[in-house]
Amino acid sequence: MQGMETVLRIEDLRKDYAGGWRKPSRPALSGLHLEVPRGSITGLLGPNGAGKTTTLKCIMGLIRPQAGRIWLFGEEATDARSRRRMGFLPEQPYFDFYLTPRKLLSYYGRLAGMDPSRIRTKTSYVLSLVGMGDEADLAMDKFSKGMLQRIGLAQALLSDPEFLVLDEPSSGLDPLGKIQVRDLLNSLRDGGITILLSSHQLSEIEEVCDGVAIIHKGGNVASGSLDDMLRSREEYEIDLEEPTSAAWDELPGSASWADAAHMRVVVSKKSLNEALKALMGSGASIAEVRQRRMTLEEYFLEKIGREGWEVGE
Ligand SMILES: Nc1ncnc2c1ncn2[C@@H]1O[C@H](COP(=O)(O)OP(=O)(O)OP(=O)(O)O)[C@@H](O)[C@H]1O
Ligand SMILES: [Mg+2]
Repeated sequence: MQGMETVLRIEDLRKDYAGGWRKPSRPALSGLHLEVPRGSITGLLGPNGAGKTTTLKCIMGLIRPQAGRIWLFGEEATDARSRRRMGFLPEQPYFDFYLTPRKLLSYYGRLAGMDPSRIRTKTSYVLSLVGMGDEADLAMDKFSKGMLQRIGLAQALLSDPEFLVLDEPSSGLDPLGKIQVRDLLNSLRDGGITILLSSHQLSEIEEVCDGVAIIHKGGNVASGSLDDMLRSREEYEIDLEEPTSAAWDELPGSASWADAAHMRVVVSKKSLNEALKALMGSGASIAEVRQRRMTLEEYFLEKIGREGWEVGE
């Protein structure tokens, strides 16, 4: 992703949390790097305790790292100015539950310095965007977790942010809610908004993100465009029609019979020519050849391993 304009750049971020009386402090981030290109949806992916929330809090200026540098919109982020162009959904949004969503958002709007007529129109707009238009004037004390999460999203969108930072945006949402959030994020991105979201759900990242940074125990494991990552194994799939049994004996050693239902062979790049020759020589007809895309789960397990899914100490 080099050469693209970056909205956020983080270099060598380090954060230790105090360990309590007579206990040593513990590192939560140990030299993290991150880049978010303008107009992208970038995912910060990692298991529980990897350091995602800590990273997002440092970006928003809510906690101070011990070391490292953060640039926002091309400038080093040393004060609150650049954060006014951002919207933030915290991991556990806290609201005064006796307020209604409309009153809550108008309070946030005043805090952000918006004028009253803009607050009124934007409040209705963002509440309908997150599917809470009908609940705008109900007290929030009866709201479910997913409903509160939607109000949190509406709050993050209220002041027309250029850059949205969302800590687990789909947390607590039902399947339909997840789809709605995915569609909302896509349409925001299409409207030119840059988005950074954290998640430990591989499917969420795979479905919505253009780029991903995988982190584990406070450090980087891999980052870049999701497409490049998932095609990094250099394997090819060959779809066949009318295969003959003779073809299988001729195939190179690296070939595997991946999918009987679709008559599909998987082969390494090195053996692709040899495999195609063998298959054609045997009379099979080739329907399609394409580079194989791994699932994010396969990629993740390859990079971190199953034990990596355990909570970071
Ligand atoms: N306020 C705190 N005081 C002490 N340690 C903390 C604090 N907040 C986080 N930590 C520790 O820092 C590490 C990273 O936590 P963080 O909340 O950033 O992880 P995460 O990736 O957001 O995890 P999750 O997926 O569970 O939300 C963990 O080991 C956690 O115990
Ligand atoms: Mg977290």
